[in-house]
Amino acid sequence: EQRPRVLSGIQPTADSFHLGNYLGALRQWVTMQDDHDAFYCVVDLHAITVEHDPKLLRKRTRVSAAQLLALGIDPDRSTLFVQSHVPEHAQLGWVMQCLTGFGEASRMTQFKDKSAKQQAERISLGLFGYPALQAADILAYQAAFVPVGEDQRQHLELTRDLAQRFNSRYGRTFRLPEPYILKDAAKIYDLQDPGSKMSKSSSSPGGIIELLDDPRVSMKKIRSAVTDTGREIVYDPENKPGVSNLLVIYSALADRPLAALADEFAGKGYGDLKKAVGEVLVEFVTPIQERVRGYLDDTAELDKILARGAERARAVTSVTLARTYDKLGF
Ligand code: ADP
Ligand code: NA
Repeated sequence: EQRPRVLSGIQPTADSFHLGNYLGALRQWVTMQDDHDAFYCVVDLHAITVEHDPKLLRKRTRVSAAQLLALGIDPDRSTLFVQSHVPEHAQLGWVMQCLTGFGEASRMTQFKDKSAKQQAERISLGLFGYPALQAADILAYQAAFVPVGEDQRQHLELTRDLAQRFNSRYGRTFRLPEPYILKDAAKIYDLQDPGSKMSKSSSSPGGIIELLDDPRVSMKKIRSAVTDTGREIVYDPENKPGVSNLLVIYSALADRPLAALADEFAGKGYGDLKKAVGEVLVEFVTPIQERVRGYLDDTAELDKILARGAERARAVTSVTLARTYDKLGF
């Protein structure tokens, strides 16, 4: 296998991925398949670091996998699987926890953010140890690259530190992964609050476009998007965050350069822009929703695809785990 290996995961913690997930990450997952040996996983082990509903998790794990397939992840070219189906993640996760310092884990800003909102008794060790499991996810595959946004940079740094620490204590075992900067990754903002990024934890449901939303609902959300004062349609994120966000979405979905849009919308109003965004969005989500329905109508076939992915993943992770255990004296 000559193509560089890449590993990426996404949590099954919502009923649908949103437009930010797609334009900021999943669209690039699809393109990366062309020149990478890609491993993509639905990280359900990470989803139980907070209290959860098992029925909902099972459903969301399948819906997540179905969306990845519908968006263009090709299970013949890439290895698509569910994290819990590959036991080496948890096994190596324990090893990584034992290598991680308490102080080191305490400095992770994502943990600080997520735990700040909760009572100490409700914060699980799993949430605290999350970055160690994430390190295991990556190192198990000897991945060369990991696509990371700004928010994951610190975790990748920790992963590299842990790999280096293990290698120097016990002998060379893990490859140090490099961050992969996603080309054309767009940051998408909340339609109701264009100062914050579109997120599943947004407080205004009108602000997020879910890929599996009824297209009429999405059209309505776009029509109600917060725009800015003035009437000119120009890309100016500082002074016109709402309009700029719509332009970024339109540019990505219509595959037209941002620079060309000022001309395209010259003399037109915000209503025209919203109409155009709504139309490209519907055109984009309609076939995806059909394909997702197809996979969910035949979960036996979907489960078979995921079982095949897990088997291929285990062919790699079992080798890494055996070497790791051997080095540790097991
Ligand atoms: P959320 O922020 O909704 O909780 P996640 O943290 O699960 O989403 O993110 C999954 C992937 O989607 C990550 O790669 C993340 O960088 C990307 N992503 C999430 N929200 C956005 C956004 N608004 N714009 C661009 N990319 C995003
Ligand atoms: Na997030």
